[in-house]
Amino acid sequence: MAKLLVTYYSSYGHIYEMAKVARNAAEAENHEVKLRKIPELEAAKKAMSGQDAYLVAQEAQSEEKEVTLADLEWADGIVWGIPTRFGNMPAQVKQFIDTAGGLWAEGKLEDKATGIITSTNTLHGGQESTILSSMLPLIHFGMIFVGSTYGQNPELSEDKLQGGSPYGPSTVAGPDGSKVPTEGDLNMAGRLAKRVARVAAGIQSTK
Ligand SMILES: Cc1cc2nc3c(=O)[nH]c(=O)nc-3n(C[C@H](O)[C@H](O)[C@H](O)COP(=O)(O)O)c2cc1C
Repeated sequence: MAKLLVTYYSSYGHIYEMAKVARNAAEAENHEVKLRKIPELEAAKKAMSGQDAYLVAQEAQSEEKEVTLADLEWADGIVWGIPTRFGNMPAQVKQFIDTAGGLWAEGKLEDKATGIITSTNTLHGGQESTILSSMLPLIHFGMIFVGSTYGQNPELSEDKLQGGSPYGPSTVAGPDGSKVPTEGDLNMAGRLAKRVARVAAGIQSTK
């Protein structure tokens, strides 16, 4: 069994929902799982705190613990929940990743399995580019990227408005953010967590 960290940033709750399903799925397979939120930035709080949807989603997450560098080091596998910002990762995630230079320098993140869940407002607003660009620092860390296979995710071949790509699970929040993750989106998030944990456990067994 693996130690799995599910760490995420979520302004409006979509990624939070996907992250909770990821946690539950890995726990159901008896992996040891931590769910941890990436800290909010003051500038973002200032920009969004006039929005009810933001305030409601932040309140819903208020009991979640914040991720630490020790959590990154602890994990055998890491699932990241990363909503898009202009086709790329949010500053909150970048800032946290940029504090991990010491772990990188000591090779402490090498050979950890990892995968990414994303969310966008629009169908073509960065579903794939956010995952692909977010992989870059993870590759520098020496992590082993795990995506979503067509074989294990029939949703990838369905003709429906839902998220998901071979790069990883995702959800489309809708232009006004009012859509919720589909059953298929949530299933794919759960399967990614289980796959990352299985790969992580396999790597551990060879050490
Ligand atoms: C500053 C900013 C930039 C964004 N850029 C994009 C974008 O490029 N494409 C897109 O589809 N959605 C964009 N969004 C919408 C977010 O990706 C969306 O709110 C998020 O995926 C919802 O996930 P959450 O509920 O977990 O926060 C942006 C939102 C903000 C606040």
